[in-house]
Amino acid sequence: MAMSLSIGQTFVVGLGEVGRRLSGALASSGTAVIPISRKCGWEHLSADRDAPVLVCVREEALTDAVSRLHGVAAERLVFVQNGWIRPALAGLPGCSRGLIWFTSKGDFYKVLRPSIFSGPAVATITEALVHGGIAATAVDARPFAAAEAEKMGFNCVVGLPLAVHALSLGEYLVRHAAEAEVVFAEAVSITARALGVVPSDGWWPEFLRAAEPLGWVRSSVAKALEYRNGAVVRLARELGERTPANERLLAATGFQI
Ligand SMILES: NC(=O)c1ccc[n+]([C@@H]2O[C@H](COP(=O)([O-])OP(=O)(O)OC[C@H]3O[C@@H](n4cnc5c(N)ncnc54)[C@H](OP(=O)(O)O)[C@@H]3O)[C@@H](O)[C@H]2O)c1
Repeated sequence: MAMSLSIGQTFVVGLGEVGRRLSGALASSGTAVIPISRKCGWEHLSADRDAPVLVCVREEALTDAVSRLHGVAAERLVFVQNGWIRPALAGLPGCSRGLIWFTSKGDFYKVLRPSIFSGPAVATITEALVHGGIAATAVDARPFAAAEAEKMGFNCVVGLPLAVHALSLGEYLVRHAAEAEVVFAEAVSITARALGVVPSDGWWPEFLRAAEPLGWVRSSVAKALEYRNGAVVRLARELGERTPANERLLAATGFQI
């Protein structure tokens, strides 16, 4: 049996797909996990003022969760949402972030590559996740920013285009290969530019590799567009650039920038 790490306790806000997977790994490592749902657990946050708080709500619930975390030191908070969430976290300088590189949907669970964490609260969490069976790595702010730009490419392809074309990811990548690559390229280049990092030519082939086990994924309704393709188009406009492939797909859903 693996030895436990005994790293104390961690609060987990939002026990959905990601929250329950991270909680399971933390618990396996010997961490005491204190769950916080919409209705329960918030009162415990002040009981241990050193314990990290992993925030695992969806992007759409982030603003509400952030307002409920008012008064909790930013240095304790770790946000793992996909998408362009920097504006939502602007009032929490010094908070930590995570980019989740597994896919969890019901019974399906696949680690695509190590999840990436950065910030003052992530060292013990990353160690505990690895100990509990989830590949994870802690990096500095700059490599994290590059990883964020790369992940934005993933999230702009695995979502909106599937809803617009009513195709699975596998079907989409075969039937609309050229569009998929442009959607990805627009997303990573604009996000990278906004973050002051340089995109890599290797990100697209890496994406195709990561997407292989996800060919069955569908997206009947495109969600969180203001944090994903919508954010890319908005950022592009601010930078004086164009993102026609993302704009066309957004227009097909009636999404207004
Ligand atoms: N699932 C994946 O494979 C995956 C992979 C990479 C990244 N991500 C990202 O991780 C984030 C979470 O995704 P998910 O798939 O875990 O979503 P999810 O399954 O919908 O889970 C979100 C959880 O947050 C809870 N919640 C919502 N508002 C809350 C609040 N104010 N306080 C406390 N809890 C609240 C929800 O509770 P209710 O049930 O009451 O609504 C739900 O349990 C998203 O940004 C997603 O893009 C997900």
